[in-house]
Amino acid sequence: MTEEYAYVQDPSPGQGRLRPRAWFASSLPTIDLNGPWRFRLAVGLSDLSRGFERPEFDDSGWAELQVPSCWQLAGYGAPAYTNVAYPFPVDPPRVPDANPTGEYRRDLPVPDGFPLARAVLRFEGVDSCFAAWLNGVRLGDGQGSRLPTEFDVSGTLRHGRNVLAVRVHQWSAGSYLEDQDMWWLSGIFRPTRIVTRGLEDFVVHADFDPGSGRGTLAVQTSAPARLAVPELGLAGADPAGPHVIEDVEPWSDERPRLYAGEIVAEDERITVAIGFRRVAVTGGLLTVNGSPVMLRGVNRHEWDARAGRTLSPETMLADVLAMKRHNINAVRTSHYPPDPRFLDLCDRYGLWVVDECDLETHGFALQAWRGNPSDDPAWREAYLDRAARMVERDKNHPCVIAWSLGNEAGTGANLAAMAAWIRGRDGSRLIHYEGDHENCSYADVYSRMYVGYSELAAIGHRAEPRTADPRQDEHRRGLPFLLCEYAHAMGNGPGGLRDYRELFEAHPRLAGGFVWEWIDHGIARTAADGTPYYAYGGDFGEEVHDGNFVIDGLVFPDRTPSPGLVEYTKVNEPVRISVDPGARTIGVRNLHHTRETGYLRWRWTLEEEGVALGSGELEVPAVRAGAAGSVGWPEELRRLVDGAAGGEAWLTVSAVLGEAEDWAPAGREVAWAQGRVDGRTCEPGGGRAGQSGGRAGAGGGAGAGPGVAPAVDGDVITLGPARFDGRTGMLAGLGGLELAGPRLDLWRAPIDNDKPLVAAWRRAGLDRLHHKLLDVEVGRAALSVRTRVGAAGSTAGMDVTYLWRADPERAWLTVAVTPRGGWDVPLPRLGVALSLAGEDAELEWFGLGPGEAYRDSESAGRVGRHWRTLAGLRTPYVRPQENGNRRAVRWARLTRPDGAVLSIIGDPVIDLTARPWSTAALADARHTCDLRPDGRIHLHLDAAHHGLGSASCGPPVPAWHTLDAVPAAFTIGLAAGGPASQRARRRVD
Ligand code: GAL
Repeated sequence: MTEEYAYVQDPSPGQGRLRPRAWFASSLPTIDLNGPWRFRLAVGLSDLSRGFERPEFDDSGWAELQVPSCWQLAGYGAPAYTNVAYPFPVDPPRVPDANPTGEYRRDLPVPDGFPLARAVLRFEGVDSCFAAWLNGVRLGDGQGSRLPTEFDVSGTLRHGRNVLAVRVHQWSAGSYLEDQDMWWLSGIFRPTRIVTRGLEDFVVHADFDPGSGRGTLAVQTSAPARLAVPELGLAGADPAGPHVIEDVEPWSDERPRLYAGEIVAEDERITVAIGFRRVAVTGGLLTVNGSPVMLRGVNRHEWDARAGRTLSPETMLADVLAMKRHNINAVRTSHYPPDPRFLDLCDRYGLWVVDECDLETHGFALQAWRGNPSDDPAWREAYLDRAARMVERDKNHPCVIAWSLGNEAGTGANLAAMAAWIRGRDGSRLIHYEGDHENCSYADVYSRMYVGYSELAAIGHRAEPRTADPRQDEHRRGLPFLLCEYAHAMGNGPGGLRDYRELFEAHPRLAGGFVWEWIDHGIARTAADGTPYYAYGGDFGEEVHDGNFVIDGLVFPDRTPSPGLVEYTKVNEPVRISVDPGARTIGVRNLHHTRETGYLRWRWTLEEEGVALGSGELEVPAVRAGAAGSVGWPEELRRLVDGAAGGEAWLTVSAVLGEAEDWAPAGREVAWAQGRVDGRTCEPGGGRAGQSGGRAGAGGGAGAGPGVAPAVDGDVITLGPARFDGRTGMLAGLGGLELAGPRLDLWRAPIDNDKPLVAAWRRAGLDRLHHKLLDVEVGRAALSVRTRVGAAGSTAGMDVTYLWRADPERAWLTVAVTPRGGWDVPLPRLGVALSLAGEDAELEWFGLGPGEAYRDSESAGRVGRHWRTLAGLRTPYVRPQENGNRRAVRWARLTRPDGAVLSIIGDPVIDLTARPWSTAALADARHTCDLRPDGRIHLHLDAAHHGLGSASCGPPVPAWHTLDAVPAAFTIGLAAGGPASQRARRRVD
């Protein structure tokens, strides 16, 4: 490689750049360079346009590309997705000859009067390496994609026409430091401007003393300036102060109090939002402003399904508002500093931020970390440069409570050097780096990812296994703990969020964590027939890729909340409400950091069998943060409960915003709870209190009484409304309905979180079971059909008895299973499958809803009466997989457009899935657009499912959510025509 291009493979961070400084809004003039640029994509260095930097170069034949953008999403080259592996031979700092290189050019008109002598060219983000020329003069080059770069253009810029030329290389030495689990995308992907240099830099120190309530403000400026903060009585003040302010209101996620300030330096005015706060480790706990912090966080990559990592201000705001509305209070900016405007929003709306550096060398893990840049002096400068560029840019944001050195970059002297540099520069935040968890020799918090429950509990007790060195052990054991990643939200899941929350709340050492991750990185595409879908790894012909591992967010690529986010919202509630039907009280526990509950308005609703009996407001005296309180039921509620007719009665209590907040209107629900109040106790999931998990119990209750007698006519057996084929024992019809099944079903379309089990499930043949009839026995008041179920090549199987009874309207089926042979795998599901003709239908049910729920993700389900069309029951996971289960259904009524009705009754409850395609089709589909209704409505009525868990990247499903193959029985009722619903039908979707 010639000298001219040496910078591409040079591990040093760049040349000709200005030193890093804070990002701020100044009154001095700027020139926006966003918009269309001339663009050409070269295949590599051998294909570059000679002299492209010269003003007179003729680019009239070139296309146009918007800046900012990622060129792969604008039709140039192709996106590529890898998680750990580098997509090129690992030979640092060399990169492939096939190195797509974007040549960018644009005219830059500079108005008369623009202060040329102070002009600076600023790039907020260029992926991954670039060199820039102004009017043919080389300004310098840079690496560090998600970090800013500035060049002094004071001697080069002129009034009138200028020509700016930028060459951007997809691969560079810097790519070795940017091996994050995400799409490889390139280009000038964040905004670019000419700014005027006035005050070079400043640092806001705004400390809050929780003991006295005093704030201390000191602003260090790089040149003489004056400071005004009218609310604090500061006008024309010396920024350095220190200014001591009695009774300052601190900044927190709950009350993001900002004081508007202005720094005036010569002819410049800089607006600054000042937030007072103190981050500390106090008594082994993570505290802010003296109170322990519970991080109810998410890991956020920057993602847009059409624009990749180029985010509009509206999208950033949408993320922040959605987080606030879903009870999320913290963001880890995995795995790079975000667009700086995002941090402004976090300051303003209130989110704790762990700001992470643009650094990951995970691919070296595949060679046991040999040659890892983190421990190689050749890369030291690049590491320090990245740390400085993050800290300098973001240091004035009150939302940032920790600096994270990066992610999955192993360990090494360069990381330790970063930490030392940061500590010297900014002692007001903690240093985070998960990779240092063995000893925490340079991190201030003990941080891990994907820890299972028992280990987490041990850590909570400060009883984790010892480190090798006793001194280090004592140090680490004294630190607060956070899960920088947990609960892998890939596909259907995560399950088990409530179990994590319970541990967080039980152990003060645990400062909470960040779910992996916020958004699915799907790329919007359209199938040949016009159906939209989202693409993932492997859809772009990548040589190596990690498939749909990039689809693991709490929101879908279009930012619609997934059931996982709905569940997370519920378990994250900042106040916990409880209903005590015995004492007739409502309890409130305030889990806020510092906020009282006085800002909430309370409401109760009483329903019997899902029909409202009454509702009203509730007076709940304000409860302090960390405290609990309770109130008695209002008189009207007591009266209604006493007068209820004896059906299943549920009281719902909800806490909503009394006044509008910045992030939501008044009336937005923040927390809720339900309690059964009809004198019987059971959990919302239908199980008796204290009994969770598989409900495959004795069964046989509702249908066990005396019933009608079967009648045999040739091969047809009739039992109440049900007709059977006497040769097969199979149900053939119910009233006027033709049905296929019900038949035992153990299979589910594997979810991503089933990853460790799928091979064993397939080996056991759970997706290809044979059903062998043993006998059909017609009894006095029952029909018994015995079968044996097993898979080709396997001796393991199930003995299954279908016991049918009936009354004149309903048929009752008790399914009893006994495993035979050796079962060394849990079952995906235990239930029956049946189908009827049709493509569409509406389902009304009384049970948990309205969304899908599974045994380890059911907290957000409310007992009530719900409605959905078949399409509305579906959760469109980007890679199709099992979805849409409605849990703890007491009864359901499926109505086809032709008016035909199938009623289903649980005994006491059943899980229910209904969809217009088979499980096999769902399991085979790669994208949502592959699924087509097959003319049948497929129903699954299940006694139990295996938990969802988050084992796509994390611990296995714990024992208490495991569905073991054990003897079990369950009962369901079936009828053509509807039993319970008195209410008029209505469509909800
Ligand atoms: C972690 C990593 C993340 C992501 C996640 C799995 O190890 O830090 O970037 O890869 O696993 O989705």
